[in-house]
Amino acid sequence: MGKIRLGIIGTGQRVFQHGDVVFKNCTDIAVLAAICDNKSDRLARVKKEYGREFGYEANAYLDYREMLAKEKLDGVYIATPNDMHLDVALAAFKAGAHVLCEKPMEVSLARADQMIAAAKKHKKLLGMAMQMHYRRRYHKVKEIIDSGRIGKVAQVWCTEYRPEYSALKEWVWDPARSGGAIHEKNCHHYDIFNLWLESRPTTVYASGSIIKHAKPHGVASAIIDNAWIINDFENGARGMVGICFLAGKGQEHTREFGVWGAGGKITFDVTDDEIIHVELANGDNEEFKMMKDEEFRGGVFRDFADCIVSGKQPLVTPQMGRDSLLVPMAAELSIKEKRIVNVSELK
Ligand SMILES: NC(=O)c1ccc[n+]([C@@H]2O[C@H](COP(=O)([O-])OP(=O)(O)OC[C@H]3O[C@@H](n4cnc5c(N)ncnc54)[C@H](O)[C@@H]3O)[C@@H](O)[C@H]2O)c1
Repeated sequence: MGKIRLGIIGTGQRVFQHGDVVFKNCTDIAVLAAICDNKSDRLARVKKEYGREFGYEANAYLDYREMLAKEKLDGVYIATPNDMHLDVALAAFKAGAHVLCEKPMEVSLARADQMIAAAKKHKKLLGMAMQMHYRRRYHKVKEIIDSGRIGKVAQVWCTEYRPEYSALKEWVWDPARSGGAIHEKNCHHYDIFNLWLESRPTTVYASGSIIKHAKPHGVASAIIDNAWIINDFENGARGMVGICFLAGKGQEHTREFGVWGAGGKITFDVTDDEIIHVELANGDNEEFKMMKDEEFRGGVFRDFADCIVSGKQPLVTPQMGRDSLLVPMAAELSIKEKRIVNVSELK
């Protein structure tokens, strides 16, 4: 078998500003054959910058349907605005390609379900690019929970303090396109809570408002910029997430996590050099220093390429992608309607 042929659809911020060069660690088994964006300046920039990185330039397209028709791709990475993920995935499956889809999977459960059904129908892989799920630190925390050292888990929490979204992401300010700020951002955190607890969320209450996001960069916005979200899980645990987009440019983007149990607690701060702190009720303390950016299966992109070659399922399954949307969607509704929302209400 020769090298597999991969493509990228949507060469925006995720692809040129997120630090990692997509598919860079896959060159022994894959070629980045084609890239697509309907904005020619973004396309030209990635063609040139990725070209330097890979030592050759991928074919560039303004229209993803033309790219899919001409390039005979084995796999496609979708990094377009959230409300386009389904349409692009359907076109990719139809063209015979496996799909790696950015989070959040889509803007509704109905659209996520259509994507899952299409992958099954076409017998193609559907991986979710939830990069936090690939980080070893979150699996180390799961290992500590599963060891029983902190006893029965009562509460899991995360707080994130960060600057507002980039002005370049014009679609994110429209809830119909992004799903809202919580949908866009916090699906990551609920994916991790789902991993830790292996339990389904039930009821959700959230309180949030718009202080700064009201008219960012002249674009009318209806997405919240500060919220607390509380939810119950079937196993009796409860989760809480605080999200705040009010940080100024000179301030650090921080994200802290905690797991509190009947026999102790686990805490870590992703700006704290990757140290997981465990404090037990019997007075014992443990610390686990994780290697920065240490990832499972070579990370999201390597895993996807390897799975195309081997036929194995990517680490983050479509069902996990769908499940990560439940609390964020219920929280968006809870803020809008000022009431407790049951995830069974969601569509
Ligand atoms: N996993 C992560 O940590 C992470 C981080 C950032 C963004 N994301 C996700 O990645 C996706 C893209 O986000 P972003 O920050 O790069 O946004 P962005 O707006 O910077 O990039 C999206 C790109 O899609 C292009 N596009 C729009 N319509 C298109 C079309 N019809 N055909 C081809 N291209 C089209 C836009 O021109 C733009 O360049 C979103 O789903 C977002 O949630 C994930």
